[in-house]
Amino acid sequence: MIESLKWRYATKKFDTEKKVSEADLATLKEAIRLTPSSYGLQPYKVFDVVNANIREQLKSVSFGQPQITDASNLFVFAANDDLTTEHIDAFIGLTAKTQQINPDDIKGFGDFMKSVFGSRTAAEKHNWSARQAYIALGNLVNTAANMGIDVCPMEGFDNQKYNEVLGLKDSGFSSVVIAAIGYRSETDEAQFKPKVRKQLGEMFQTI
Ligand SMILES: Cc1cc2nc3c(=O)[nH]c(=O)nc-3n(C[C@H](O)[C@H](O)[C@H](O)COP(=O)(O)O)c2cc1C
Repeated sequence: MIESLKWRYATKKFDTEKKVSEADLATLKEAIRLTPSSYGLQPYKVFDVVNANIREQLKSVSFGQPQITDASNLFVFAANDDLTTEHIDAFIGLTAKTQQINPDDIKGFGDFMKSVFGSRTAAEKHNWSARQAYIALGNLVNTAANMGIDVCPMEGFDNQKYNEVLGLKDSGFSSVVIAAIGYRSETDEAQFKPKVRKQLGEMFQTI
C-alpha cells in the first residue's frame, strides 16, 4: 500500500501511446462509485472526456498543461450546486429499493436532510458538494496507484470556461477538479524527484 503511494506522483508527461484498458477504466469508475459521501448523497458527476476536440479546447483553458490532451483519459469532477428536494427524494427512494425497506420508514431522514440543505446558500451547497467530490478524487488516485496507473490530479484550469465547454450551464453541476489518467512517459523528469512532504511530527499531534 505505502509502496504504491511512494510510486505514484503527479504525472507531468504522459505516454501518448499507452491507453488505459476498458477493464481498468471500469475498475477506476467503480472505485469512484464506491466512495463514501456525507449522508451518502454522492452530490457530483464525473465526465470522462474522450472527445479529442473537446480535450484541445479544455487544454487551452488549463494553462496549456499537456496532461489534458496527452493522458489516456480525462475525468472532470462536477459538483452538484443545488441539492434539491427532488435529489433527496431520489436518494430516499434508492435507499428504500436497495435495502428493501418502506420509504416511509426513512422519511424522517429525508425531511432532516431537506431542512439541512434548505437553509444553505447555493455557494454553501457547492462547497459541500465539492468536498465530497475530492474524496472520490483521492480514492481514484490511490486505486489507480495500486493498479500501476498514473494520475495527475489538477485544479489548474478555468472552472467557468470548463463549464461552458462542457455545456454545464444550467445543468445544476459545475466543474471543481480534474484527473488526467494514463501512463507516465519514460522521459518525465518529475518521476525521479524525491517527494516533498512534511515530517510526521509536524502534521500529527497526540493530545
Ligand atoms: C487538488 C490538486 C490539484 C492539483 N493541480 C495540479 C495542476 O493543475 N497541475 C499539476 O501539474 N499538478 C497539480 N497537482 C499536483 C500537486 O502539485 C502534487 O500532487 C504535489 O506537489 C505533491 O506531489 P506528488 O503528487 O508528485 O507526490 C494538484 C494536486 C492536487 C491534489
